[in-house]
Amino acid sequence: MFCFQRKKETMKFLIYLVVFVLLFNGLTANRVENSLVQKYCNQSSKYAERYFYKFCIASLEENAESQKARNSNDLTLVGTNNALSNLTNVKRIVEKIFNERKYKGRLSKKLLQKCLKLYSEGYDALTSALKYIKVRDLFKVSVHLQKAKEAPSICEMGFNGDNKQISPMKKENDVLFDVINIPYSFNMNRHG
Ligand SMILES: *[C@@H]1O[C@H](CO)[C@@H](O)[C@H](O)[C@H]1NC(C)=O
Ligand SMILES: *[C@@H]1O[C@H](CO)[C@@H](O)[C@H](O)[C@H]1NC(C)=O
Repeated sequence: MFCFQRKKETMKFLIYLVVFVLLFNGLTANRVENSLVQKYCNQSSKYAERYFYKFCIASLEENAESQKARNSNDLTLVGTNNALSNLTNVKRIVEKIFNERKYKGRLSKKLLQKCLKLYSEGYDALTSALKYIKVRDLFKVSVHLQKAKEAPSICEMGFNGDNKQISPMKKENDVLFDVINIPYSFNMNRHG
């Protein structure tokens, strides 16, 4: 009876210990991650609009890979991968609008076609950027991320410029632009 009681107490203690260790590890891992993400998001928000800082942190923390990041190059890589998946999603949304003819008039059709071409070019630019991030060619990373940002921005300009059409994916394009801006600005602010 006594022995059984001891065993039970020991088990209880072990369980507490395991829970404590897990909790503690989780907390410290989070703290390291947050400080790196916070540091670079803060730097990148210096000349940006106020919402960008929180957006930057939320966007990076959506990707578990950012927990393993050790420096700004790692985070540029995570941000570019995020941008690639975001762009792929937006492209799919626009393809759907196009295929289901959810647009008004021939002009919009032409503009949507142009956007799809821009997304394809943006995809290639992001893929190239990934390659150059791995060899730390900061200049080429910058050129390709800059090129990728043109996909959502030139796409929107087509609608809102002289054409005065309503873009069916304005919100998606605005978010995509910001998502690409995250690795772009990390790469620009890099100090080793
Ligand atoms: C954020 O950056 C500003 C300068 O732009 C600096 O004064 C501030 O201490 C930074 N905050 C954190 C939490 O790093
Ligand atoms: C793009 O990324 C942002 C921020 O990570 C997210 O909120 C948004 O839902 C994504 N959009 C698409 C279409 O994947």
